[in-house]
Amino acid sequence: MSIHLKGVNCFYGSQQALYDITLDCAEGETLVLLGPSGAGKSSLLRVLNLLEVPRSGQLAIADQRFDFTQRPSTSVIRHLRQNVGMVFQQYNLWPHLSVEQNLIQAPCKVLGLSRSEAQTRAKKYLERLRLTDYAHRYPLHLSGGQQQRVAIARALMMEPQVLLFDEPTAALDPEITGQVVAIINELSETQITQVIVTHEVEVAKKTASQVVYMENGRIVEQGSAERFTHPQTQEFANYLSH
Ligand SMILES: Nc1ncnc2c1ncn2[C@@H]1O[C@H](COP(=O)(O)OP(=O)(O)OP(=O)(O)O)[C@@H](O)[C@H]1O
Ligand SMILES: [Mg+2]
Repeated sequence: MSIHLKGVNCFYGSQQALYDITLDCAEGETLVLLGPSGAGKSSLLRVLNLLEVPRSGQLAIADQRFDFTQRPSTSVIRHLRQNVGMVFQQYNLWPHLSVEQNLIQAPCKVLGLSRSEAQTRAKKYLERLRLTDYAHRYPLHLSGGQQQRVAIARALMMEPQVLLFDEPTAALDPEITGQVVAIINELSETQITQVIVTHEVEVAKKTASQVVYMENGRIVEQGSAERFTHPQTQEFANYLSH
């Protein structure tokens, strides 16, 4: 199993955001989290790289295990984030660094790659994401779709086992959304496990091998992509029909 969650409960102060989440995802799957606003999709995604630390339950991901009766140490969390990358909706690129510099920074600092090793790796991911021509541009001189691809390339530079996406197409027009969908589908041909939060059912259908449907902090339905055509709960059927 690439990802295993058991009995996870997560709170913001006294407000509970996730209730008793139990979930399995095998290596190489593309898992899509769907549900109405406030369902807990982002919270669940953020638990997977411990941007939110649950109050109770267990998580196993990318060969690391956590039992939340104890708070994980910062060094353990740092190690986890090397193997579990995140692509944010707002891209979070460094505006004062070129595309290439954005890519090589973390591999040099965190993984200890030399500058030339990191540049060789950057070349590979820039090619894969069709960004070679933009290596020396600054993020503000790129379109939204190009910035999103840089953000994906930057996450891939760490060669993570799991890649998390929170609404990767939310700010993009349909053509660019199609490009991001194509990239997710290309990545799914590799061993990487992807977890994608989206509220776009079409994006979900085009990318998911597994789907989780959430409401009010709880998983209502989970299964393979067949659930899009054969939902097993009234709630998911209603959501799909809107
Ligand atoms: N930082 C926070 N502090 C307090 N409450 C929060 C925080 N982040 C989320 N919540 C609450 O937790 C619940 C789940 O929020 P979450 O962001 O996970 O939902 P979501 O499914 O991602 O929604 P959306 O589709 O709107 O992004 C909501 O009730 C939300 O108000
Ligand atoms: Mg969200």
